[in-house]
Amino acid sequence: MKVQSVGIVGTGVIGSSWAAFYATKGFKVKMFDVDPSLCQKGLRRATDYVEFLQTQDSISENAANQAISDITMVNNLDEAIKDIQLVQESALETYEVKHQLFKAMDAGTPPDVILASSSSGLLMTEIQKVTQHPERCLIAHPFNPPHLIPLVELVPGERTGNHTISKMKTFFEGLGKIPVVLKKEAPGHIANRLAAAMWREATDIVLKGIASVEDVDKALFAGPGLRYALMGQHLIYHLGGGEGGMEHFVDHLGPAFEQCWKTMATWTSLPPEAKDVLVNGIKDEMRGKSLAEMAQWRDEKLIKLLQVIQE
Ligand SMILES: NC(=O)c1ccc[n+]([C@@H]2O[C@H](COP(=O)([O-])OP(=O)(O)OC[C@H]3O[C@@H](n4cnc5c(N)ncnc54)[C@H](O)[C@@H]3O)[C@@H](O)[C@H]2O)c1
Repeated sequence: MKVQSVGIVGTGVIGSSWAAFYATKGFKVKMFDVDPSLCQKGLRRATDYVEFLQTQDSISENAANQAISDITMVNNLDEAIKDIQLVQESALETYEVKHQLFKAMDAGTPPDVILASSSSGLLMTEIQKVTQHPERCLIAHPFNPPHLIPLVELVPGERTGNHTISKMKTFFEGLGKIPVVLKKEAPGHIANRLAAAMWREATDIVLKGIASVEDVDKALFAGPGLRYALMGQHLIYHLGGGEGGMEHFVDHLGPAFEQCWKTMATWTSLPPEAKDVLVNGIKDEMRGKSLAEMAQWRDEKLIKLLQVIQE
């Protein structure tokens, strides 16, 4: 798949980060948002992300300058999808908006242009119904922020072509991303389903008075989180089984997990008291730091972690 130019449609949190990612990988990037002031803000954010990568020595000064000059803002969708080979749609998360955009993008581009949506929770089967060429449409779901985090979840709709998925998998691998391919659609794809399970139990532990918000977070990042940066749950437990690997782990520790599962949360909507408890708990954990300070700290550490992982 030969990509030279990428159209970013929707330039909020995710669109601006995608713009920085694609530009630093050598593509021309056109950014479009239905709200021109948000497009301007998105362009500013994308530029900041590129400059941040340079301050962290992830890219050279020349590469950063080139990337910044390769990102342009356009005033309408037609311009955004003209002479591009890939669209990374990152607009509002509703079927109404996705339908309107996919219909127009499908009509306005040759059938070999790939139409990817960043959607976290909508189904491609539903989105692609409005297109004449559903085979080139897929979900390419990033993990925030995509200019730093390698994961991309590729999710086909019922009418997505196998060749579209395999082309995009190869494409992302070539850019240093770690794509995973879902065999069928599921709300939340893989990573957010796992995060949803984790968050429910993390909240329930606090609500049951077992531990504070801060200690639940510590129990995650200071223990399992360190391993999660290197390997997933299945491989972790395979190693946890010693010489017997996963087989021994299941036989030996499976029953202990069953005891846990029997006492764990199963609710499917947040208990009403959860919001206040979480908001107060996180205030303590932040110790007066601003969100911007915390995000900056996170991103600097993420870069260092990624350098270790990529070695
Ligand atoms: N925020 C996250 O952590 C995250 C992570 C992964 C994927 N996503 C997905 O990315 C997409 C964007 O999410 P976000 O968090 O960046 O939202 P956001 O609210 O920050 O940005 C959405 C942008 O889309 C624009 N928009 C709305 N209608 C439009 C239209 N018709 N044409 C062009 N632009 C339009 C809005 O003006 C806004 O600037 C969603 O599908 C979401 O599910 C979000």
